[in-house]
Amino acid sequence: MRYRPAREDVRESRLNASRRQRSCVINCTAVASFTLNGRAVTLDVPDDMPLLWALRDHLNLTGTKYGCGIALCGACTVHLDGVAVRSCRIITAAAEGRSITTIEGLAEDGQPHPVQQAWIDEQVPQCGYCQPGMVMAAAALLADNPAPSDEDIDDSITNICRCGTYPRIRRAIHAAARSMSATTAEES
Ligand code: FES
Ligand code: FES
Repeated sequence: MRYRPAREDVRESRLNASRRQRSCVINCTAVASFTLNGRAVTLDVPDDMPLLWALRDHLNLTGTKYGCGIALCGACTVHLDGVAVRSCRIITAAAEGRSITTIEGLAEDGQPHPVQQAWIDEQVPQCGYCQPGMVMAAAALLADNPAPSDEDIDDSITNICRCGTYPRIRRAIHAAARSMSATTAEES
């Protein structure tokens, strides 16, 4: 399964928001409980608040960036149950019972994720603004497709980098794929 923009999640979010709006006139809030970077979190936020806002403004996880707000640029990419999604267009309440990983939670046991290490080795970022979203999209792609071709990468990573770091991103994804494959071979 390839990286997929969160169309189903966006549609579900909109439906849920519209249902709530019918029964709620002003100052409606919703409680959402979910797992965030391995920890249980419960939030009481406005019921139409995008997940991106909850992460940045209520949970102080500012690694996830705001770019367009309309699910186009990918700067706000996080993992929802392991799938790369655009958190600017998912309401927080839609995360109920689910598992979210942000760029802050990608490293494990103090070790960078192979994608993060490859990003460092290949010196991918320029201004850096788009990069957390790129890294999250790349990690989701490799979890799904351990050896993507350039075409797979171009098809799957639809995030926008205004600095044009795409060639280095491709190189880093291939490097991360090799590193993950070598680790798997060592472990087997
Ligand atoms: S800020 Fe979410 S896709 Fe651009
Ligand atoms: S590194 Fe500047 S927008 Fe991507």
